[in-house]
Amino acid sequence: MVTATDPERSFGPVACGSVKLTILGGGGFRVPLVYGALLADHAEGRVTAVTLYDTDADRLTAVARVLADQAEGVPDAPSVLATTELDEALRGADFVFSAIRVGGLEGRAADERVALDEGVLGQETVGAGGIAYGLRTVPVADGLARRIARLAPHAWVINFTNPAGLVTEAMSRHLGDRVIGICDSPVGLGRRIARTLGADPDRAWIDYVGLNHLGWVRGLHIDGRDELPRLLADPELLGSFEEGKLFGTDWLRSLGAIPNEYLHYYYFNREAVRAYQDAEQTRGAFLRDQQEGFYARMKDPATPALPTWDHTRAEREATYMSENREVAGAGERDESDLESGGYEQVALALMRAVARNERTSLILNVRNRTTLSVLDADAVIEVPCLVDANGAHPVAVDPLPYHAVGLVTAVKAVERAVLDAAATGSRATAVQAFALHPLVDSVSVARRLVDGYTKAHPGLAYLNRA
Ligand code: G6P
Ligand code: MN
Repeated sequence: MVTATDPERSFGPVACGSVKLTILGGGGFRVPLVYGALLADHAEGRVTAVTLYDTDADRLTAVARVLADQAEGVPDAPSVLATTELDEALRGADFVFSAIRVGGLEGRAADERVALDEGVLGQETVGAGGIAYGLRTVPVADGLARRIARLAPHAWVINFTNPAGLVTEAMSRHLGDRVIGICDSPVGLGRRIARTLGADPDRAWIDYVGLNHLGWVRGLHIDGRDELPRLLADPELLGSFEEGKLFGTDWLRSLGAIPNEYLHYYYFNREAVRAYQDAEQTRGAFLRDQQEGFYARMKDPATPALPTWDHTRAEREATYMSENREVAGAGERDESDLESGGYEQVALALMRAVARNERTSLILNVRNRTTLSVLDADAVIEVPCLVDANGAHPVAVDPLPYHAVGLVTAVKAVERAVLDAAATGSRATAVQAFALHPLVDSVSVARRLVDGYTKAHPGLAYLNRA
């Protein structure tokens, strides 16, 4: 096994005065998206050196090959160094991007399957599946955060590791406000609404708040006017865009807000569970098979790297959340939606604002402070923030209506139980985490879920204390 920097996986000179970005989970399938965004950035203060860290040397090799292809012919391409040594990867980092998947896609598939077999939602981040994923991921994220605090105390940490809100909160216990969680779903939603209204998405102020994958757009302001009421009042317009089809216009008008697409799992839980149970494969199993194929093919040095990755990605994105869309008759995601920039654009915008003090506003996962009065100051929430060289500052928002307070506080209580269970190894606390979730309908189900998950995941063996 390769344990140190391998010149075969690395390319490009490291310039002095360079800005170093370390990617944890550097062998991940989405890393070329991040590198592609960096390649397009030629401005002063841009990232010039990328270090990929991963526990899996073969995946690192595969992804480094794709990156080398992408860098071909780009004169100022950021250098790339790949390593399986965490400390080496962290030293001197200005930014750390965390995008790991503890247990891999096999783990995700098991998260989904165990829940569905018990008749509750099996999904990557929401409900029982998300709790299992959190219980597996928090101890690892906690270890990484401690190491970063030690070796790169001045680095800004951008967390994309799911469940992103919970994991960001776990890391913030060691890194404070230096860790910022990101997700592409709020910005995607804001852009879809703006486009539907015929407005320029870059000029819109999106009044959005909640937890990660659990938030609502309550207004969309352009030139000092809230345009959302115009959308809600026009059934044709409302039914023409994705969330309109997903949730139905009547329900959106009742809510008076546009929920994040992940709220479909709450508002249409029965339908979602049934559709997932009827599906041939879970999303995790689909991605596992697809990506296994990619990494296996990449072991052959004759496999052309970039075209193989690109082809696989297109297929993956075409089916993104497709089960939900089918259930709701929402169809496939719009092409223009994928182009508007996913999480790599959010990450780049965040790095730019911090590195160059280019003030901007982004919807991010940060500590609440006093933003939502129903939550304590350390609770990580998802909220518009002003970003500059001093980090992300959440803006004041209107309070949530009670129905949203109910969901947000219930799910935050679940997240806190997950954090406690991870810290103490208490099985009873893990049971509590499942039992308190609004999408788990019985304490007995919660107990069986803990049994099922500890059997399925060796990484949950730590849950052995009463
Ligand atoms: C969106 C969410 C991410 C999530 C991803 C799932 O981008 O914001 O948090 O990980 O979808 O996509 P996948 O292709 O893995 O199902
Ligand atoms: Mn997300």
